[in-house]
Amino acid sequence: MAENQRILVCAGTGCASSGALPIIDILKEEIKRQGLEETVSIVGTGCQGFCEKGPTLVIEPQHILYTRVTGEDVAEIVAQDIMKGERVERLLLLDQETQKPVSTLSDIRFFAKQHRIVLQNCGVIDPQKIEDYTTREGYKGLQKALAEMSPDDVIEEVKKAGLRGRGGAGFPTGLKWGFCRQTPNDKKYIICNADEGDPGAFMDRSVLEGDPHSVIEGMLIGAYAIGADEGYVYCRAEYPLAIKHLGIAIKQAEEAGFLGDNILNSGFNFHLKVFAGAGAFVCGEETALMASIEGKRGMPRVRPPFPAVSGLWGKPTNINNVETWSNIPHILRNGAEWYAQFGTEKSKGTKIFALTGKVNNTGLVEVPMGTTLREIIFDIGDGIQSGKAFKAVQIGGPSGGCLPENMLDLAVDYDTLTNAGAMVGSGGLVIMDETTCMVDIARFFVNFSQKESCGKCTPCREGNKRMYDILDKIAKGEGKPEDLDILENLALTIKETSLCGLGQNAPNPVLATLKYFRHEFEAHILEHKCPAHVCSALLSYTIDEEKCKKCGLCAKNCPANCISGDKKTSYKIKEEECIKCGTCIEKCKFGAVSRA
Ligand SMILES: Cc1cc2nc3c(=O)[nH]c(=O)nc-3n(C[C@H](O)[C@H](O)[C@H](O)COP(=O)(O)O)c2cc1C
Ligand code: SF4
Ligand code: SF4
Ligand code: SF4
Ligand code: FES
Repeated sequence: MAENQRILVCAGTGCASSGALPIIDILKEEIKRQGLEETVSIVGTGCQGFCEKGPTLVIEPQHILYTRVTGEDVAEIVAQDIMKGERVERLLLLDQETQKPVSTLSDIRFFAKQHRIVLQNCGVIDPQKIEDYTTREGYKGLQKALAEMSPDDVIEEVKKAGLRGRGGAGFPTGLKWGFCRQTPNDKKYIICNADEGDPGAFMDRSVLEGDPHSVIEGMLIGAYAIGADEGYVYCRAEYPLAIKHLGIAIKQAEEAGFLGDNILNSGFNFHLKVFAGAGAFVCGEETALMASIEGKRGMPRVRPPFPAVSGLWGKPTNINNVETWSNIPHILRNGAEWYAQFGTEKSKGTKIFALTGKVNNTGLVEVPMGTTLREIIFDIGDGIQSGKAFKAVQIGGPSGGCLPENMLDLAVDYDTLTNAGAMVGSGGLVIMDETTCMVDIARFFVNFSQKESCGKCTPCREGNKRMYDILDKIAKGEGKPEDLDILENLALTIKETSLCGLGQNAPNPVLATLKYFRHEFEAHILEHKCPAHVCSALLSYTIDEEKCKKCGLCAKNCPANCISGDKKTSYKIKEEECIKCGTCIEKCKFGAVSRA
């Protein structure tokens, strides 16, 4: 048995919802029962990355990963792995290619191809203990800034590192800090944008849950650079664990002298509060976010003035995203040159992606900027589920676009993706296979934007509704060829005339799908067919007489009672009465029912 083993149990939201918390209690009991308390410690961590395979558990120092662990597995893990050093094979991850179990983290392709800077503590430390953060160099960046650097030096360092905002637009962080620093005022604010409204995104939540001190330290360094003495983390109320861990971390940082007045005897003061937002997508837009903190309705306003000049309560304010703030301590501690070695010429560092959809390994992934989509989806993500064909990747959430197979070798960086009609956005990556209909997808995202529009300006309020109606018509087989031109013109107008990023980017999924998957729109309109067999109005079900064994199971289960036949005559579907539910296909054991 190895000395000083640590059992890291993921207690992030994903694993907690699949039953991780009782496992920690059972483990503690079992370790006590076996008299191992002196040599084995149990740590509840933030997300370890492999959320879909949760609850996950890592044994250190050997870096053994067990997936889909249950309370019943605990005694076996302790008896076999901890006490005898033998792996519990059935709980190891199965490599999709070799179909063999893989035990150590470094041998698992999902982890081996990643480079973790922001996530380096996530899933490794106890986010509720400041000592876990400080023993891994935590607050060293702040100490260095306060002891050795002037605010201008700090801004220069962040500029040299080439860090660009991770909240979507990719604006250079150092430049933004410089604007705020240059605005004279004796009161300035710092805000962390933890609204994270994109469907499918959970990067920011995971950083806050798993490593809250890194965000606080980043904000402290930013506040020192800009000259702010007060800050807010604006976090959606739907993230209770992130809010809880932040609250604990703020209290601990205050007690340790990192937050409050005269921080580390430097004369620098900074106070931090958490503000729970109600979870409206538009409240992630910076001017709407500030209105929300001020107690007003979360609606964007025209810029200028930019927040750097007139922000929260009219004071100069700097807003950055969670991941942006979390990068800062690493840059200060290791230097701009170290940071700038990762990434591409114009997009430095790493980016976290939430990899979801029809991919084998879903979870949280951090890669250097410039990694290709193919590497992320096929090497790290291990390819498409059930051996199906890849169709598209939606990148950047409702503000992004869908890219087809021939774009998979594109490097993931701000400029390359924007040129391709998508965007890095906040980092949602949704993988779609051959069973996804691109008209349906465009409709889904426009529906989201339409519902989330604050309604302040007409192009966004009315235009998105109109786009939704047209897409709905096409999905129902009622579209006309000229609808595609109307859709395109409408999309371009909404983009150009909307006030905020929601309206300006809402048409992106439509424009990208029209550009890369126009043939699917045309099939719906001209042939009244949905090539992916998704749009129910366009499907037709038929029974192949040759294959039909006349068992009657389809007719028995058809909810519309529209299948007739008996042992002597053949079975037939009355198309006009069919509600296209697909039950007959599911029930037929002989493959006699087909869908077209
Ligand atoms: C509709 C809309 C929603 C947004 N939601 C978020 C969000 O959830 N988190 C975020 O960091 N930025 C979001 N942004 C971008 C912010 O307005 C802002 O640009 C960002 O917080 C700046 O931080 P950064 O420079 O670190 O990227 C959103 C923008 C728009 C238009
Ligand atoms: S673009 Fe849409 S969300 Fe933004 S201000 Fe206008 S109506 Fe509101
Ligand atoms: S698709 Fe549904 S409604 Fe139509 S024939 Fe089959 S079972 Fe009946
Ligand atoms: S379930 Fe299949 S085999 Fe049986 S009656 Fe229906 S179509 Fe024929
Ligand atoms: S929440 Fe447990 S691995 Fe992500």
